[in-house]
Parts: sequence; C-alpha cells; structure tokens
Amino acid sequence: MVVARPRLWRIFRLPLRGQFNRMAPDWEDRMGPEGLVPLGASLERLSVSPRRALDLGTGTGKAARVIARFFPETAVVGVDLAPAMIEQAKRLLPPELAGRVRFEVADGSALPYEDGAFDLVVLQNMIPFFEELARVTAPGGMAVFASSRGADTPIYVPPETLRERLGPLGFGDFVELSAGMGTALLAVRKERG
Ligand SMILES: C[S@@+](CC[C@H](N)C(=O)[O-])C[C@H]1O[C@@H](n2cnc3c(N)ncnc32)[C@H](O)[C@@H]1O
Repeated sequence: MVVARPRLWRIFRLPLRGQFNRMAPDWEDRMGPEGLVPLGASLERLSVSPRRALDLGTGTGKAARVIARFFPETAVVGVDLAPAMIEQAKRLLPPELAGRVRFEVADGSALPYEDGAFDLVVLQNMIPFFEELARVTAPGGMAVFASSRGADTPIYVPPETLRERLGPLGFGDFVELSAGMGTALLAVRKERG
C-alpha cells in the first residue's frame, strides 16, 4: 500500500515501528541462513567492491553482516526505524566487524545521509521508498532488492513494479535472479550526464 501511495506512510509509520519493536527480541531466529541466499547471489554479481554500503530496514543486521563479510573492505551502515531492532543488531555484531559496521535508527523515507553517500544500497524484505533510496545511491552505484521467499515474502514488491519505479529515477541495467527459495532484482544507478 505504501509503495503505491507513499503519503500513507505518515499513518502507518508509528504502528509499524511498534510492531517491529515488539518482534525484535526473536527476529534473529525467525529466518535461517536460507533466507540470505538471494542476497548472497546478488553480491556475487557485483563486479567491484563498494566502498560504502547501506542496509535499509536492517532489522537485527543480518544483511549488513553478510555484506561486510562478503566485502572485507566495505564500510556498512544498517538502519532501521525500530530502535529495538537496532539494539539487537548492535548486540549481535561480532567484534571483528565492529570497526566497519555501524547501526543507526533512521527512517528510509527521510534518511540522514548526503546525496550519493552509498555505492551499494540493499533492501532485504523491506518497503522501498524509491526517491530517497535513489537520492543516497551514488551515480554508478547499485541497489539490490532481495526477497528471502520470493513472492511469498510478507514484504514483497514484484520486479516489474521495481523496474517501473526505478527507471524514471535513473536506474537501469536491471538483473533479476532466483536463488534458494527467494528472488532478487539488481539495478544500477546511471552515471550523471
Ligand atoms: C521484514 S523486516 C526485514 C528485516 C531485515 N532486512 C531482514 O531481512 O531480516 C523489515 C524491517 O524494516 C524496518 N522498516 C520498516 N519500514 C522502515 C523504514 N521506513 N525505515 C527504516 N526501517 C524500516 C522494520 O522495522 C523491520 O525491522
């Protein structure tokens, strides 16, 4: 609903934050490693290592940790609307990643980062706010939309909708993939000019 009508987010924001705060204590155990397969397959497609990556709607930080392990030089930021999720993400971060991965409470519809701040923006099972994610993706950078269980994922946006909404914002070179039980779409933000 929010993807079709982003203005509705003002109504849904607080109840959704409350709901995810309540789910935070056992979120980590709700999905096993199989849920991360589409993201892993997507990262394998990247031809260059990103310098700065953003995991939007990080939850307990699973995708952020995958990105950090896959790209040992990359600085990773995981953000989530729900403070209780961020608390868990910080608690679960292993010491060897602590120097490169940080977690912050932020709303994906209004991010506290400058334009083009990230070379890689990942959304795993997360509601996309297209204008804002486009704003923080650097020209030449990439966005990855991973759905752990494909169309059966509770928060799922079909690839045709993603393409439709991303194209006018300067994204292209779309790649769709299936891996494990899930799917993903990759998109490159075209260089300016
Ligand atoms: C379905 S969970 C997915 C969590 C994580 N990406 C994973 O795959 O385990 C969606 C997460 O997005 C967060 N979220 C929802 N809307 C958000 C927004 N506008 N900005 C930041 N986080 C948001 C929720 O709090 C929740 O933790």
